[in-house]
Amino acid sequence: MAISETPATGPSTSERGSGRTLRELSDLITPMTIRVAVTLRIPQKISEGELTAEALAAATNSDPDVLERILLHLVSVGVLTRDDDGRFGLTRVGDQLLLEDDGFANPDFLDLNTVVGRAELSFVRLPDVARSGDIVAYSAQYGTGFWDDLGNEPSSATHFDQVMADGMQKRVQEIAESYDWGALGSVVDVGGGNGTLLAGLLRAHPGLRGTVVDRDAGPATRTFREAGLTGRAAALSGSFLEPLPPGAGGYVVSRIQSDWNDADVRTILGHCAHAAGAAGRVIVVDEFAAEEGVRTDSETDLRMLMYYGGKERTMEQVRELAADVGLSVRSLRRAADWTIMELSSARDG
Ligand SMILES: C[S@@+](CC[C@H](N)C(=O)[O-])C[C@H]1O[C@@H](n2cnc3c(N)ncnc32)[C@H](O)[C@@H]1O
Repeated sequence: MAISETPATGPSTSERGSGRTLRELSDLITPMTIRVAVTLRIPQKISEGELTAEALAAATNSDPDVLERILLHLVSVGVLTRDDDGRFGLTRVGDQLLLEDDGFANPDFLDLNTVVGRAELSFVRLPDVARSGDIVAYSAQYGTGFWDDLGNEPSSATHFDQVMADGMQKRVQEIAESYDWGALGSVVDVGGGNGTLLAGLLRAHPGLRGTVVDRDAGPATRTFREAGLTGRAAALSGSFLEPLPPGAGGYVVSRIQSDWNDADVRTILGHCAHAAGAAGRVIVVDEFAAEEGVRTDSETDLRMLMYYGGKERTMEQVRELAADVGLSVRSLRRAADWTIMELSSARDG
């Protein structure tokens, strides 16, 4: 999954970072103080009129001296203001901490008590990951995997699904029009989240039926009910690391592969291939990494590594993993800024 929606464009490698000092680039203090302020709900408290360090400490059950030192740092970097009477306010940058929603830039995800906030802290494990190559930082840090933790936190799970759905909603029409989904008869959307993609495909192809398989069938079930698609769409709770329901015409794998290591991607694609049989199709929908490293989204790539042991892959890398489980590419289509890679096990592929 591309957790950042921002393409890595702009200056060439040699120019990146220009205008910022090494000290700014390597600073951990500002990111942590911002995250602590969000975790303590300082921006909300300021907007509600708790303005002094003492009042904010009382309102957030914090130590007044330590909190004031954190707030003064945020003043020094332009997130907060402080007047002569010791009253804090939000700058234009600080105001962004009150945003209700801006995808993965939503300040909720800076909250250290949320699964995404915790996942970012797993970057302290980067030295171990760099040495071993196969430690999953999130699991090493917290003792459980990212997806299990997300499943245990309904509000974060809903928010995560919504961010995924928002990115999908922008492209679903084009995805639906760029491939003859109707010819498949039925599809299984493997890890289909809250069902936004499947609902879009079914609306555009009235003869198509489909099933989402995801860890929790609840969100997709609700989407299909609200969209009046219950007769043609279903959702199953299950894991794509286990065998999938067989016999559908197509198995869609949208924004899944980058969350997993190579062995798991082979397992997932292998289950799809097995369930699809010789007649079916496996259809990978994704924003692949560019072949040239220069434009690759390194932030997302490292997040995939730390959260899940995954990676951003080029189309060629996915094609090779698919080939390992007997799948070959039948067609490639562009849909908005994503690619639809149609695979099959058929020998005439
Ligand atoms: C990055 S999201 C992609 C969602 C959707 N396919 C899309 O493109 O918007 C990854 C999805 O994989 C699901 N997932 C994670 N582990 C899973 C597993 N073992 N079995 C089934 N689904 C899983 C998550 O719940 C989530 O919905």
